[in-house]
Amino acid sequence: MATNNRRKQPNGLSDQNILIFGGVAIALLALALAWCGWWLGTLLKTHAAPPMTNPYRVAFGLADRSLTWPGFYGWIAVGLVAVAMCGVVAAGFWFYAQRRRGRSRVDDAAKHMGVGRDIESLRERHAAEVAKRLGVQADTPGIVLGRLVASGAKVYMTWEDLLIAIAGPRTGKTTCLVIPSILDAPGPVLATSNKRDIIDAVRGPRSCKGTVWAFDPQQVCDEPQTWWWNPLSYVTDETKADKLAGYFMAATTDPDARKDAFFDSAGQNLVSALLLAAALDGLPITRIWHWLTHPNDRRPVDILIEHEYEQIADGLEADIDAPDKQRQGVYATAMRLCRVLTNRRAMRWVNPPAEGTLPCFDAAAFVRSDDTLCSMSREGEGSAGALTLALTAAVTEAAEAYARTLPGGRLQKPMLNVLDEAANVCRWRDLPDLYSHYGSRGIIIETFLQSWSQGEGVWGAAGMKKLWSAANMSLYMGGVREEGFLRDMSGLVGEYEYRQRQVGFQQGHSSSNVSNSRDTILSIDDLASLPRGRELLLSSGNRPVLLKTMPWMRRADADAIQASINDANGTGDEA
Ligand SMILES: Nc1ncnc2c1ncn2[C@@H]1O[C@H](COP(=O)(O)OP(=O)(O)O)[C@@H](O)[C@H]1O
Ligand SMILES: [Mg+2]
Repeated sequence: MATNNRRKQPNGLSDQNILIFGGVAIALLALALAWCGWWLGTLLKTHAAPPMTNPYRVAFGLADRSLTWPGFYGWIAVGLVAVAMCGVVAAGFWFYAQRRRGRSRVDDAAKHMGVGRDIESLRERHAAEVAKRLGVQADTPGIVLGRLVASGAKVYMTWEDLLIAIAGPRTGKTTCLVIPSILDAPGPVLATSNKRDIIDAVRGPRSCKGTVWAFDPQQVCDEPQTWWWNPLSYVTDETKADKLAGYFMAATTDPDARKDAFFDSAGQNLVSALLLAAALDGLPITRIWHWLTHPNDRRPVDILIEHEYEQIADGLEADIDAPDKQRQGVYATAMRLCRVLTNRRAMRWVNPPAEGTLPCFDAAAFVRSDDTLCSMSREGEGSAGALTLALTAAVTEAAEAYARTLPGGRLQKPMLNVLDEAANVCRWRDLPDLYSHYGSRGIIIETFLQSWSQGEGVWGAAGMKKLWSAANMSLYMGGVREEGFLRDMSGLVGEYEYRQRQVGFQQGHSSSNVSNSRDTILSIDDLASLPRGRELLLSSGNRPVLLKTMPWMRRADADAIQASINDANGTGDEA
């Protein structure tokens, strides 16, 4: 049990004792002033140092006139000494104010939270040991999450930890965690976003390590297209086809929308069969839309039979031959899932170029490189979320497949997956399950959400709880006003004990009674109004800690990041 938030017995000063000590201190001060006035005043007056008589003798000597007060010189000396004492006290206050500068209103709570051995596994030494044990080839022992409020020591996440961070909009998720962790990553990095902030900041510094690939089918950052990716290269069998169809479903279905058990699953199966047929025949993904709009075209059935997928071919044939109403329903659902295939701008990124040649992104090569892939999309009408999600899953699965071939079944150079704005851009239903085993493969996932309910919208209440518990690092950075979530957080941070004194007066006598009381370390309102620059870290095996965030602006490579942002904004020359 932690000891810094527990007090065994009341043992403080009583009110009477405080009065007695105060009186004694004033008497000693008067004694010291009298002595200084006499000694220094006599020195000033006679230009000869008097003997170093002890202060009591001086006081009594002055009282019984066996010593003479040096008159005006004595008062000058008392004044000088008093001024010097005031100077010392003022310097003390100034020093104290300096130390408290930059402190936030919640910082006092840090002394009741994890300190010393309670948080041993968050320290640099532990991260370095883990990196050595795993044989990780990296310049840094782990990913820095922030600094301890109390000591300023850096807190690390090791190369086998996975993170989930919840914080409201504009609380500094991207500035303090996403960008710094991408820049510290030793190997490939996959990032998702719905803004251009990440790609702009990391493009410069990361291009020194490898190629920076920006996947921008929705023109989030007006990235000119210099490469393309074939989603069907992911579809190597029926399982992958099912998964890809599942990504289309996840990205296009509003979590609160009414579900239709039959049509939803039949539509998804139809898309899966068509994806498999197109992949087997080496056709572009846009062919799916043609087949959906021409249900009588039996070519996909033939392809599936040619490649010995008879059962799937039978299922597809049954859809094609279904009674009109049923077929319309199934095809309408499938078309809803595949709406992105009608988006010409997005389709340029996932189809071979009409003219000339562009390099084709290869997930297997990417996971063996030190490249960076930033995948961007926006929610809402015309969203290319399905493509972003499919690319994220394809790359992560390629990393897993590669890890399996390596000694220990893990990547020596871990791959970092930063899923910023995960609930908007990367609604990956399998994520809670993947969290439990990707750490051991050297695939480090960081998921960023704006609130607990946003996560519930994607993974459901049970899935979100699973994700939260499977992550061994959970961060809260403020800006959330969901009472249930904040109450749970406050409960996890726990309580501290403090001493309470009650003073009573009865029949002319005063009595004082000291008792121990308990209070929450961080209350719900403290958490709701957590100031910018502070984050609360819950991690497995450690007591909760309060951290100072570390925005990229305070990194040693801040100039390179700023230059990269200036370049992206076209202000490189002026800067
Ligand atoms: N600790 C911080 N120090 C300085 N600026 C910060 C800090 N945290 C956030 N900011 C600024 O706040 C704004 C929003 O931050 P951002 O990281 O985009 O938030 P989020 O990703 O949580 O929406 C940015 O302009 C960023 O520069
Ligand atoms: Mg952000």
